[in-house]
Amino acid sequence: MSAASFQAPLGLLSRRRVLGVGAAMAGAYGTSSVASLWPEQAGVHAENFFGAALLPQFRGDARVVPALAERFPWVQHGENTRHPLQIANAFDASLALDARATEGWLGERQFLVGRGKAVLPWAPMFERPSSVVAANRDLRALAGTEHLFIKDEGSDHIAIYGNKVRKYEFLMPNLYYGGVRRVYSHGAYGSNHCAHLALTARFAQFHAAPGPDGMDVVLNLYPQAITENVRVKLRLLAATGVDLRFLEGDAAVGLSIKLHSQLNKTTQRSTEGFIDPGGSSPLSVLGHVEAAMELARQIESRSCALDGPPDFVFLPIGTGGTAMGLAVGFYLLGWPTRIVATCSQDKSVLARLVVNGDVTEPFDIAHARHLLAQAMPWIRKLGLVGGNVTPEDILKDRFSYDNDTWRPAYGKMSASVAEGARLARQAGLVLDGTFSAKSFNTLTRYGENRLLAGRRVLFWNTYQRFPFETLLTENDAWAKDLPADIQSRLAQA
Ligand SMILES: Cc1ncc(COP(=O)(O)O)c(C=O)c1O
Repeated sequence: MSAASFQAPLGLLSRRRVLGVGAAMAGAYGTSSVASLWPEQAGVHAENFFGAALLPQFRGDARVVPALAERFPWVQHGENTRHPLQIANAFDASLALDARATEGWLGERQFLVGRGKAVLPWAPMFERPSSVVAANRDLRALAGTEHLFIKDEGSDHIAIYGNKVRKYEFLMPNLYYGGVRRVYSHGAYGSNHCAHLALTARFAQFHAAPGPDGMDVVLNLYPQAITENVRVKLRLLAATGVDLRFLEGDAAVGLSIKLHSQLNKTTQRSTEGFIDPGGSSPLSVLGHVEAAMELARQIESRSCALDGPPDFVFLPIGTGGTAMGLAVGFYLLGWPTRIVATCSQDKSVLARLVVNGDVTEPFDIAHARHLLAQAMPWIRKLGLVGGNVTPEDILKDRFSYDNDTWRPAYGKMSASVAEGARLARQAGLVLDGTFSAKSFNTLTRYGENRLLAGRRVLFWNTYQRFPFETLLTENDAWAKDLPADIQSRLAQA
């Protein structure tokens, strides 16, 4: 089915606002020819939205200082520095970021605060630190290692929290202060990024302006295997009131991402902006540099179970922002820590070539390396590394990957991954089937092969396990908003 064929179920959408990407892009581009390249496509704007009051979340605080600034004080706005760039708390209204001159493309923008100095706004949106806990005996036995710790990026109580939100803490205020009030992004049906972006953009605080001035969200979704988790995500998206559009096939998805990314290629203020899949961008890599500093602070202040830098960190990799940010952080800390990243998918040689310009490395890995190269200017401008430090210097001896465990498919678990996830859950560790369960499986195989003996091992659990289903109505009226073919896929699953 092509993107255009989504016009078919229009009858089902009769009471809802239906927009076409063509129309939306035309709004962004005036009479741009980009709009005419893209077929008119139906979208769904659900109406049963539940509102911010239902979402337990952290309130913006202008006094919070990033952990990065505790170690490298000059990165904090207000401190003396010879470097051209600092980080400023986005809730500080006295900065009047809306009125500042800016440099750079939308979403990757620095705000000029005087005499050649610029800031990046950062909006802390959840309470720090996320916890580091010692794994219990059952988990240690399962993983085959004695010194196992978990950085827990999930919360049972706070909805807007963890891995994705660390990226939005840089992205959302950057877009907002660039004038953006509607943001476009892409992801698979069950994308954690899409779910968390919908919640964050519409309901979280990420700027100093009075009032609950959020952003509209337009999500372009593409198929993945329908699991219970995916069903909850679609239900959640339907409930948040975001615009949903549906794509099919690598080519349509790739083209749509390329076209929408053009929204950000402006140095002017703009009301419409784009966020890359997975929320990873050169700027948002800083979110996990910050996370590495948070971990260092926990270890050094002896406020967590881990009593020194980990020898290994196991984590999943999708678009690479998490792994690359942590790699930069560990490099800056001078830690010998090795990251072992478990890929979440791979793609054809053609897709590798078109997207990454590299056919030799797995899709996720080449993409991540590229992202790191693009993030280097931010790291340098903040004065964190000198001009001669390269991405290779950062990743050398610090990064390896597993490109097997993701099979049989993105979002689907092999029998051994599923069994590991089941046992981990019994032992108290909740994992998702697309990312974290696969990473945990890589870890257990390292353990079985005695590669972790006597080593400090940290499992970076990226999964935000908040029970979103508890916020949603029980009936299945939500699904009636979706195009007919997606309803039938849900019914068959
Ligand atoms: C639970 C989870 N873990 C890991 C990842 C991958 O993170 P990244 O895209 O930063 O590589 C994602 C999202 O894409 C995710 O949802």
